[in-house]
Amino acid sequence: MTTQFREIDDAGISIEVNQLVVGAGIPFDVYMKDRGILTPLFPKGMVVSPDAKNGLLQKGISEVYARAEDSSAVAEYLARAKARKEKTSGDPSGLFRDYSFAKEQHHQIDRALLSPGREIPFSLLALDRFTLTSLVEAGEKSPALVTAEMLAAPGDLVIRKSDIPLYYEYINSLLNQDQAAEAAGGSVKVIAVKENSKIIVRDLLEDPRSGERIKQSGEMVRGMIDCVLDNRDALYDLLSLRGYDYYTYTHSVNVATLSIGIGAAIGMEKEKLEKLGIGALLHDIGKSAVSPEVLNKQGKLDQSEFLIIKSHVMEGKKILQEHHRIPEESFHAVLQHHEKLSGKGYPLQLAGNNITLFGRISAIADCYDALTTKRPYKTAFTPFYALSLIAKETGDYDPDLLREFVKMLGKL
Ligand SMILES: [Fe+2]
Ligand SMILES: [Fe+2]
Repeated sequence: MTTQFREIDDAGISIEVNQLVVGAGIPFDVYMKDRGILTPLFPKGMVVSPDAKNGLLQKGISEVYARAEDSSAVAEYLARAKARKEKTSGDPSGLFRDYSFAKEQHHQIDRALLSPGREIPFSLLALDRFTLTSLVEAGEKSPALVTAEMLAAPGDLVIRKSDIPLYYEYINSLLNQDQAAEAAGGSVKVIAVKENSKIIVRDLLEDPRSGERIKQSGEMVRGMIDCVLDNRDALYDLLSLRGYDYYTYTHSVNVATLSIGIGAAIGMEKEKLEKLGIGALLHDIGKSAVSPEVLNKQGKLDQSEFLIIKSHVMEGKKILQEHHRIPEESFHAVLQHHEKLSGKGYPLQLAGNNITLFGRISAIADCYDALTTKRPYKTAFTPFYALSLIAKETGDYDPDLLREFVKMLGKL
């Protein structure tokens, strides 16, 4: 807290708590009135969380204050809040907006790396539909023990975004414990590759120009390929299966895994698998340019929102072109994963043989993973039903690859 941010003797400008925008930073210091004196509440720049806002309302605080000298910043903030409210008038309770915020601020993790009695140096929460619940609070200096009840919590297990580095360290400490790896039937290594890949893709979605992260994504893909070539069953551990909400990073790792699986099934050599895997892992990197509100929108998208979503393909190409490390061939998975053999896809409405092998493979993997992913407003389709839907779209997907895909999933 800055020294200027202290009790002030100022009448202050009042702002209704209801006008505070969840998920946005406040561009001025916020005070509350305590016996007529303005007392510091939030420092400038703080992002309003759903908890903070609800906490104030629950305490009966319906008004907060800003200093008179901040009046222009307040006016601008309120104007933006009003515009935003109008835009989300279909969501009067702010439920979807808060849910979108909760997803941005947390990171979905695999419960297979947690087992009862294990010490964790990070807090654990559960995100179930629209509800975020804290399961245990912990930190580097005050670790907590995982319990069976925590692992049985419904929904996705998540950690705070700020705890990702601690989770990363935790994964790597598990890898060094041979015993733990053996106890889990050797799958700890495979799940660790998956969890690390999710973190790298997440970072890339936030900062797609990070050369370091691009380099690491190549390493991750090589790790995934080694696991799969070593043991086909590793595909199962690399996939985050149904029951998860949609997270672009989890989806990206799934699409890479499924694409590598198809590639391996048709006998693709390792070097080519690597190019395919990198393209598939980064296929949605252009979503970094799409606002979380559109990405996490529940229900039908309007036409302009759909155009924004569609732009992720060209955005992705633009981003990857800046990285000279990415093989040219990998671009095909990024550019063509929404193309359909019938010519009804996007962005270029390519048809038939104009769609490359990488484009055809990633299109099947992408569609399958999207169908089998849960959303708060819809349950996930079973693998069987998803496959029958894809197969029904005859003319959209490559039938030979589809056959290999069904065979592969049947073995899982
Ligand atoms: Fe996509
Ligand atoms: Fe995708």
